[in-house]
Amino acid sequence: MKIYSPFLILFATLFILSCKKGTTITSTITNSDTSYNALLIPPTLTGTNFNLTLSPSSKQFFKTGAATATYGYNGQNFWGPTLIMNKGDNVQIHVTNGLSDTTTVHWHGFHIPAVMDGGPHQKISPASTWSPNFQVMNNAATYWYHPHLHEKTFQQLTMGAGGMIIVKDPVESALNLPRSYGTDDIPLVLTSRRFNSDNSIDVSTHAYGDFLLANGTINPQISLPKQYVRFRILNAETERAYNLGYSDNRTFYVIGNDGGLLSTPVSVTRLLMGVGERYEILVNLANDAVGSNLTLKSYNSNQKFGFPGGEPASSGDFGSLLNNTDFQVLKINVVAATTNAVTSMPATLVNNSYWKSTDANTSITTAINGGQGGSPFYFDNNIYNYNTINQTIPLNAIVNWTFTGGNIFGHSIHIHDVQFNIVSRSSGSIAPYEIGWKDTYFIRLGESVSVVAKFDDFADPTSPFMYHCHFPNHEDGGLMGQFIVK
Ligand code: C2O
Ligand code: CU
Repeated sequence: MKIYSPFLILFATLFILSCKKGTTITSTITNSDTSYNALLIPPTLTGTNFNLTLSPSSKQFFKTGAATATYGYNGQNFWGPTLIMNKGDNVQIHVTNGLSDTTTVHWHGFHIPAVMDGGPHQKISPASTWSPNFQVMNNAATYWYHPHLHEKTFQQLTMGAGGMIIVKDPVESALNLPRSYGTDDIPLVLTSRRFNSDNSIDVSTHAYGDFLLANGTINPQISLPKQYVRFRILNAETERAYNLGYSDNRTFYVIGNDGGLLSTPVSVTRLLMGVGERYEILVNLANDAVGSNLTLKSYNSNQKFGFPGGEPASSGDFGSLLNNTDFQVLKINVVAATTNAVTSMPATLVNNSYWKSTDANTSITTAINGGQGGSPFYFDNNIYNYNTINQTIPLNAIVNWTFTGGNIFGHSIHIHDVQFNIVSRSSGSIAPYEIGWKDTYFIRLGESVSVVAKFDDFADPTSPFMYHCHFPNHEDGGLMGQFIVK
């Protein structure tokens, strides 16, 4: 086990012991809140003109020991600012590459022309600036941006390159929902990292980190007002899925997924999130006493094989200190309500009408293969090739796209350009909170999943869009394909 200081050896040992006893990491370490760190809330950029610069940085992740080399946008020491955009706006973005390596920036979930998409083909050389512009056509929801350079996505994401995008629109704005960023509307980017003995981030392509990071904060806590609070949650992991819930098993409400609000809130006690997915949830703190606390946890123990992060190993390429445990995600300290507290939840949200399988006029089936003995995964017997177009989709086609196999393990499937609706899962029913506009979904081991989407607005006979597993190590290894719309 590579651990970077005596403090952490103690921390890790106590953690392993504490997991066996079914308690949480920090309550075993110390009973005082001083071991927690305030959840970092990324700064925001708003308007129609956005400048992003990706640079090397460094961050003091732990309370003792040397700082860790990282990447961040706009001087952030890990991750980047949250971009806030309005549906309908024409935005101009300038992305400057301050790394010594090529990068790209992809606007995950956005429906925009392929040349603006920021996939592997829109390269940004060191010291140069890429300036995409596009109209924001997406619904109000939570999206994100991240590097997408083929074979470098894992390394650049792992070092910290990425950021959240919040799209607003009049439909969402008319609802009585929490939307004070950082107060009752909380961005929550979940990932984990493993650290080398010199404190550097381990960028060898293992699947899991040992330490949870929420917005880059280790062992995070936040003070939240005694009222309805919204979280915008992004799983920005390498492979780990999160099975989220509260320590008192309270009911909470999913109000939105990848590409928009749900038609009505869906009440849950657990929420499964694969890599790349976003969910917006509401939790009611009105009945919690000021001064009390509760914990958002990930209940990842005792999952079926194929659940990423369920492997019962504490180290190695497919193990981590968090694997097969129920671990703490965020400690919440309840404080007094704000003056304009949201004290109720709308019974209905937006009037959605999703694509059904009977709407489709084209179908595509993509098989996941490879992966035997740790070898790369690929689609349809072909490792990703930068110069091969794997699918050509007619403009305005309504496609039923099935991925089959979930070979060897579960994966996270993402299709660029569109928001789709999941119409079938061979393993059983579709969770009610998954029904909606989505761009990414978790596919279980051995499962077939079908989605329906319309490929409208943006034809381009030469620039492809990507489809891939969103585990960046799988994507870099070749579990990616490309399609053109024409
Ligand atoms: Cu989040 Cu192809 O990307
Ligand atoms: Cu995968």
